[in-house]
Amino acid sequence: MNIVVLVSGGGTNLQAIIDAINNNTIRDTKIIEVVSNNQNAYALVRAKENNIPAKCISPREFDTRDDFNSALVEEMDRLSPDLIVLAGFLVNIPAEMVKKYPNKIINIHPSLIPSFCGKGYYGLKVHEGALARGVKITGATVHFVDEGTDTGPIILQKAVEVQPDDTPEVLQRRVMEEAEWVILPKAIDMIAHGDV
Ligand code: GAR
Repeated sequence: MNIVVLVSGGGTNLQAIIDAINNNTIRDTKIIEVVSNNQNAYALVRAKENNIPAKCISPREFDTRDDFNSALVEEMDRLSPDLIVLAGFLVNIPAEMVKKYPNKIINIHPSLIPSFCGKGYYGLKVHEGALARGVKITGATVHFVDEGTDTGPIILQKAVEVQPDDTPEVLQRRVMEEAEWVILPKAIDMIAHGDV
């Protein structure tokens, strides 16, 4: 299966996918390109270090959002991947892309959906929300992307305990280590083998 991984930042989830392919936790799968909306994303360095084609498509390079969206969709069409993986991609996916790739786009979200998801909940803000509400359990979710924000069918979830003295950063790291880096590779392997 050929996958494209879309990123915006540090790329630890991308790294988890690369590692899982290298140690055969994800089987029969190749990353054909990494696309970032952010020129400075460390994820792009990770891609280059692993000899994976990497490209930045930034909204800043375009006059309008529609032009950016078209460029993103055109790039996907050119690559024609079996699966598009949003690994910390903090950009709304164009409706046209969702329509064109039904059940072919997955996203990792750092909470147990339907908690702490939807508009405004991304990255550290998710963990700030969880701590502010005082939940004792949080986690991560892999889901298919539909036209809504974090509303698509759930593929895998994993729970993580909140500790009394957690900061958003400490909790984010635990959710990544114990949940995200486990279930995202697992979901990709399952999809590659028709198990979803
Ligand atoms: C991850 O925690 C991911 O779940 C989250 O952004 C972080 C990216 O980290 N994604 C969202 O919040 C999507 N709504 P990474 O670049 O190190 O993989």
